[in-house]
Amino acid sequence: MANGAIAMNGFTGLDGGVGGVLNGRYSEEALNAMVERGRVHSAVYTDPVIFEIELERIFHRTWIYIGHASEVANAGDFRLRNIGRQPVILVRGNDGVVRVLMNRCRHRGAVVCEVEAGREKVFRCWFHGWTYDNTGRLLSVTAPEGYGEDFSVEEHSLTPAPRVESYRDFIFASLASDGPSLREHLALAAPMIDLMIDASPERQIEVDAGAHKTIYKGNWKLVGMDGYHPNFVHASVVAMWQRKADAGMGATHRSDPFDGKAPTYTRDLGNGHAMLDLRAHRLLHYPQYSKFLAGVPGGKEYMDAMFARDSEERARLLLAIAGDPHTGIFPNMQIIHNQIRIINPLAVGETEVVMFPVLLKGVSPQINALRLRQHESFYGPAASGSPDDAEIFERAQRGMMAQVNPWIDISRGLARETVDSDGAIVGNVTDEVPQRAQMRQWVRLMTGAESSKSAAARASGY
Ligand code: FES
Ligand SMILES: [Fe+2]
Repeated sequence: MANGAIAMNGFTGLDGGVGGVLNGRYSEEALNAMVERGRVHSAVYTDPVIFEIELERIFHRTWIYIGHASEVANAGDFRLRNIGRQPVILVRGNDGVVRVLMNRCRHRGAVVCEVEAGREKVFRCWFHGWTYDNTGRLLSVTAPEGYGEDFSVEEHSLTPAPRVESYRDFIFASLASDGPSLREHLALAAPMIDLMIDASPERQIEVDAGAHKTIYKGNWKLVGMDGYHPNFVHASVVAMWQRKADAGMGATHRSDPFDGKAPTYTRDLGNGHAMLDLRAHRLLHYPQYSKFLAGVPGGKEYMDAMFARDSEERARLLLAIAGDPHTGIFPNMQIIHNQIRIINPLAVGETEVVMFPVLLKGVSPQINALRLRQHESFYGPAASGSPDDAEIFERAQRGMMAQVNPWIDISRGLARETVDSDGAIVGNVTDEVPQRAQMRQWVRLMTGAESSKSAAARASGY
């Protein structure tokens, strides 16, 4: 691994202890020094040694989003997922319980499930045929007479992830047997998850419309919340929206994110979570949007149901944002527009993003179809938005290989950020509040410091 490390200004050398690197590993001091208040050493994105430490201290320790309960609605339903580099099975057993089981045969370690999704009563290992039921219990071993009397079938069940908790059917797992609860970890991000779910009149979403994946040649941390990039990375689609608006084709004119007039913000929600807060802006456009929605079959009934259920203010908000909290949940989840995203780190310079469209329970099929079409138009494999993001992440990764001057700047908006009454750090929508939030949590987990629960500690900086 030492060969993979990159010489850096101030951190040069490996194995000799220069710059805090000992035996090919970075000291906590060295890791800490790579993140300053408004800049980050690009080795954080390019060094395979650091990537290995991230797997160990972030992905194999903190809460990782696994999936939504609706993906495994029936007994035997399963989905293959990963916790960092470790393969797991999200499965609902015949007993109705949803589990996260390590996808590893208790005999000699082969994966017991190879199919990405399906419904099974049993998982039979291909190597030598040990067979487990869908609760993980070992049912039988091949030719059991070869084992001694002290061999216990009961003691060879598939191993569950040490901790599994869910928040409103969003299932998370942690490979650490202790640490903050999921609710503590989610901090101010929990009410943002509510925004997605409560957009359904039945307060239920369905994540069963399939998924699409993309792999880009770049570091996992590049998939952040970023309100600074759209006019550049998405210039072609922004121009198209403008032409549609000019032609009176229903779209509204997009506000200029740089003129400071639109009520759009960035918010650091604690523990690395952050959002582009578009709520007030979308509320401004609610009158046009509600007219549009009223023209969709089932739209009026949807609005009536929401106003009958919630206060006028809440119903209006939920309809205006259409269930889009635009929130990143550290380290591997984003809930943006009509989708849930899982970010899988494959290597220091390779990342898989899986996007799951979200449908609302209790609305007309036409409204859900519209959600799917909207999702496809920006995020699909041949869409107008997501492929551009993947391309720019690759260009960032390639550029960061030039390391004569290796620091990247994340200081935008530092001088104007404020702390809200709920403790969230708030900036303009184009500010790098989310990047700083991500790196602050990165330092905490990488250097072993306890994650902070208090706004005061968050606001006090790195
Ligand atoms: S490794 Fe699974 S049965 Fe041998
Ligand atoms: Fe983008």
